[in-house]
Amino acid sequence: MKSGDKYIPLEKLNSIKKEALENPEKFWGEQAKCLDWNKTWDKVLEWHVPYAKWFINGRLNACYNCVDRHILNNRRNKAAIIWEGENGECRILTYYELYREVNKFANVLQNLGVETGDRVAIYMPMIPEAAIAMLACARIGAIHSVVFSGFSADALAERINDAEAKVLITSDILYRRGKKIDLKGIVDKALLNCPTINHTVYVKRNNDLKLMEGRDYCWDELMKGAKNYVEPVPVEANHPLFILYTSGTTGKPKGVVHSTGGFMVYTTKTLEWTWGINDMDVFWCTADIGWITGHSYVVYAPLACGTTIVMYEGAIDYPNPGRIWEIIEKHGVTILYTAPTAIRMLMMYGEEWVKKYNLSTLRMLGSVGEPINPRAWKWYYEVVGQKRCPICDCYWQTETGGHVIYPPIGIQDIPLKPGSATFPGIGIDADVVDEYGNSLPPNKRGLLVIKNPWPGMLMGLWKNDARYRAAYWERIKNCYCPSDYAIKDEDGYFWILGRADEVLNVAGHRIGTAEVEHVLISHPAVAESAVIGKPDDIKGEVPVAFVVLNKGYQNKKELKEELIHYVKETMGPIATPHMILFVNKLPKTRSGKIMRRILKKLIMGEELGDLSTIEDNTSVDEIRKELSDFK
Ligand code: WTA
Repeated sequence: MKSGDKYIPLEKLNSIKKEALENPEKFWGEQAKCLDWNKTWDKVLEWHVPYAKWFINGRLNACYNCVDRHILNNRRNKAAIIWEGENGECRILTYYELYREVNKFANVLQNLGVETGDRVAIYMPMIPEAAIAMLACARIGAIHSVVFSGFSADALAERINDAEAKVLITSDILYRRGKKIDLKGIVDKALLNCPTINHTVYVKRNNDLKLMEGRDYCWDELMKGAKNYVEPVPVEANHPLFILYTSGTTGKPKGVVHSTGGFMVYTTKTLEWTWGINDMDVFWCTADIGWITGHSYVVYAPLACGTTIVMYEGAIDYPNPGRIWEIIEKHGVTILYTAPTAIRMLMMYGEEWVKKYNLSTLRMLGSVGEPINPRAWKWYYEVVGQKRCPICDCYWQTETGGHVIYPPIGIQDIPLKPGSATFPGIGIDADVVDEYGNSLPPNKRGLLVIKNPWPGMLMGLWKNDARYRAAYWERIKNCYCPSDYAIKDEDGYFWILGRADEVLNVAGHRIGTAEVEHVLISHPAVAESAVIGKPDDIKGEVPVAFVVLNKGYQNKKELKEELIHYVKETMGPIATPHMILFVNKLPKTRSGKIMRRILKKLIMGEELGDLSTIEDNTSVDEIRKELSDFK
């Protein structure tokens, strides 16, 4: 099916956008009909800055909307999930099969004592059971907290404890680049410090899984005795669907809470507007379910739309750089949604790998996670999409629930500019402002803000009102501030320039510099540390750590390696410092604040500018020397 079939005239799009901003209650009330509700809301929106409530007193069930309603129509036997393992193993679940599995697992959760409102932690590879576990939680109104399976034991324990999860769903191993990663070992270590966990369920993939009597269970064993049907619990629209932890500017991750009604309406509608998703599509979003993209656009929105999704466990360039293209050809993927870091890596392998496969089923492309550089955009457009597939550059965040700046190419053929996510989406009043909140003229760099509530916005941070207000609402009065720099050009296109806080974006993953520093300081050798991001051709940015050693420790290569390994073990591989530099002093202001801005300029070899606030200039000279020795 041609995407253009659903196009509406530009004037129509503009009038929809106008209506969505002028009369949000009427507009979103209409949009919410995309879902099945057990009870209609009394009021569409209640907005008391900074908390919005959507579809008040409406009742619905997210799992019912993603699964049950499709088995009542002709999607019953349609593929819901096409799963590929790294070794080429393939499993396909129809909507009916998904329905059966989800019901049974919902009953398993009930049998383990999970009730509506309880938290369930999910630490799983990209296997269908991960989506089944999420949907089963939603079915009984339990709140899931998915933790990325690349995170370490400490990171897992911290997230479990903050959410006070009762049950953990996991797997004994995961496959990555031909290796088996021992998740069980990580889980066992984490659970030494997780007093709230009563039970753990393992998807068994290895024969020698050893379970702890009374605590650990095997997924298949529990499923054998489970009931075939569990009544979906209709929850109030503002009942949390999930918590997802993301990095912030302090050492502690933030528990972003999303609602059931608003989140489901917003993600479902944005999926339609973004790519005009329809029943002919095979949608492949390569994100892991451990991140928001995996929640919104692997699981909830596509399944609510009755779409066939592809789920892949493993690296997209393993066992060879053609793997991603092979999967597209094999399953006839029509929409590919991936990250610039992946595109740059694939580009590096060369177009011969792409040309080996028939990608003629592709009709649209998507990019998310960081600004896409024009060279990668061009390659994605010309080589992958063969100039036929428009690219939707989607700007959004864990907190926004769904796309907020994006070209709605599913309904309108708007002209694209490589590297720009184009315009604020439908129902989003975004702007670029100075630090006082004044709107800036074209091409002036400032802070991106959103001035109105939208249904996908976070409900808050888990049990942390003060941090919610401080993190998003205090920088610019009465505006949601995502902490990204942006410019708006003379045609009104938005260009996102990167983070305006101490958060790095490594291969599309958010990593708080404070989190890495916190880990380094917990090592006995480290007195102080400062972490910054260094530009990287493939990953966008990589962490670099400056470390001041405690007395008695020497500047040795082995110690650097030990510290790198320590961060990797404590936080997980994505936070691994690219390099560590030992210094005697960090540049600080007179009030004692570390001047990361100077470290960044030093590493980039840029002019340092005004150094008048620095407490001691010798620190800069020393770092310069250390850097030149390093080269
Ligand atoms: C960045 C991922 C430019 C941005 C969905 C944001 C982007 C952070 C884009 C959120 C894009 C995401 N263009 N930058 N299209 N998409 N970002 O919470 O800095 O993991 O604040 O959500 O990624 O990352 P998060």
